[in-house]
Amino acid sequence: MISQAISRSIGVFDSGVGGLSVLRAIRQELPDNTVIYLADQAHVPYGSRSLEEVRRFSEVITRYLVDQGAGMIVVACNTASAAALHFLREKFPGIPFVGMEPAVKPAAEQTQSGVVGILATPATFQGALYASVVERFASGVILLQDTCPGLVGQIEAGDLDGPRSRRILEEALAPMLAQDIDTIVLGCTHYPFVIPLIQNIAGPGVRVIDPAPAVARQVRRVLEANEARFSQANPAATDSQQVYYYTTGEPTRFQSILKQLTGESAPVAHISLE
Ligand code: DGL
Repeated sequence: MISQAISRSIGVFDSGVGGLSVLRAIRQELPDNTVIYLADQAHVPYGSRSLEEVRRFSEVITRYLVDQGAGMIVVACNTASAAALHFLREKFPGIPFVGMEPAVKPAAEQTQSGVVGILATPATFQGALYASVVERFASGVILLQDTCPGLVGQIEAGDLDGPRSRRILEEALAPMLAQDIDTIVLGCTHYPFVIPLIQNIAGPGVRVIDPAPAVARQVRRVLEANEARFSQANPAATDSQQVYYYTTGEPTRFQSILKQLTGESAPVAHISLE
């Protein structure tokens, strides 16, 4: 079914439901493109794994999405982007990729206090991508980092404002707030789903940056730059948007969290990528 639909379609993946925050923005920006969303919930969380292991998962997933007809890939996961974006571009030279990187640049431009908090996974902080954005954009700005241990798991379980998620975030943010941060960068795609909780803890004076809208605009630019190739491959692709959901985990679990996070009820298929 899927393979005949699409060469203009967009493959989107994450370790779990975090990439839905990016998918939401992509659907607003590009309401006509078919999207294939893959959640690698058999391996979530990625953030505490080695970069090498996450790279391996990312390669297998990308191959699967391309086999399903995806004409471009959005790595809707900061951790997988840190581990694999460069590698994937080399491995799949015909496929355009859009990845995530912590939004240090807009944060550094906007901060008044000169102190910015960054929430991301340990693997993201270890990657060369993070080191590169810090080096390029953060001079003169103090960056305070925290890995929010356990928060990805809480969000996967649908705990967006319970006591455990609150405690994790309070522990992360208290030292940052004590040092006068006025901007928080969400360097993990799961975290936009707890923005209300973050804002509640940090107060209205702190700006929280969700990179998803900027990433969706980049997806549009990349699609437009490749338009000729896509239309040639499938000139009749004018259908209204379809989104296909896959998980390597438990489909009913994904389905219920999808409903909770986005309000959408949709079929979800299980796939095994071992
Ligand atoms: N959503 C992911 C990210 O942006 C991965 C979180 C995880 O699996 O640890 O980093």
